Amino acid sequence: MERMPHHRSHLRSQAADHAHEHARPEALADLLDRDAALLGGYLGDATGWIQAESAREPERIVDLGAGTGSGGVALAERFERATVVAVDRSAAMLERVRASAAEHNVAARVGTVQADLDEAWPDAASGADLVWASSSLHEVGDPDRVLADAHSALRPGGLLAVIEMDGLPRFLTGDPEAAALETRCHASLADAGWNAYPDWAPHVRQAGFADVRERRFGAQAASVDVLDYARATLTHIRTSAAVQLSAEDRTALDALLGNEAELARVATRVRGARVAWLARRR
Ligand SMILES: C[S@@+](CC[C@H](N)C(=O)[O-])C[C@H]1O[C@@H](n2cnc3c(N)ncnc32)[C@H](O)[C@@H]1O
Repeated sequence: MERMPHHRSHLRSQAADHAHEHARPEALADLLDRDAALLGGYLGDATGWIQAESAREPERIVDLGAGTGSGGVALAERFERATVVAVDRSAAMLERVRASAAEHNVAARVGTVQADLDEAWPDAASGADLVWASSSLHEVGDPDRVLADAHSALRPGGLLAVIEMDGLPRFLTGDPEAAALETRCHASLADAGWNAYPDWAPHVRQAGFADVRERRFGAQAASVDVLDYARATLTHIRTSAAVQLSAEDRTALDALLGNEAELARVATRVRGARVAWLARRR
């Protein structure tokens, strides 16, 4: 999907809100975990980039809209002296963060704070050396206010990293017809406002940050787990109230989801990409 310009201060369309209301939180959390398991290779590159750009090793890191914690845990692993504050409005997500931190032996350094960033910046997320916002800035109602709060929450010299998916993951590359179906699904998701975000660089500068840099990270995987991720993603698309597919495409998607052998034939590999902005508080 192309990067979409936002044409209103509230970045999510009503259709996207609707889609999120209908998505089961556990289904979304499972998708995030599957994505991290298969395409999380970019996390090493992104955290390595941050390390190379850090004037001093971060001691206090804030993970905004932490989801299931893939970013926060990768940061705790990269920066071994740092504590991570994972902020999310969803208690279920934060439970997954704690479980993941325990699994990766960093539970002692990863704390969770349940807070709605649309209401206020949580006090527990101040005095940071690094603020990381992955696939979350486009979800808040007023991202410019959140960016200004992130700026205030950082110590001088601290870094902000904003990460977004550069297009949705693609699975159905093993067959031209299936690939075309996936393209139409993505177009419908884009119409519904899924994953819509602007070029964050001007917003980040406007919030007072300097040295704004942008990088892209690609990732792909081919393993048996691709099939599970493909099935979960396509089911998520199929059951979303906001996705408007033609009757033929709905039938084709149902046929694919109902035929395990055919799905396995066309979904052999997953490709994804991330775009990241890194900026410094003076
Ligand atoms: C698409 S997920 C991304 C999760 C994770 N950062 C990642 O990259 O895998 C977005 C997360 O932001 C959280 N979120 C959305 N709006 C929020 C808000 N206003 N305040 C706090 N968390 C929010 C959601 O609950 C969800 O866990």
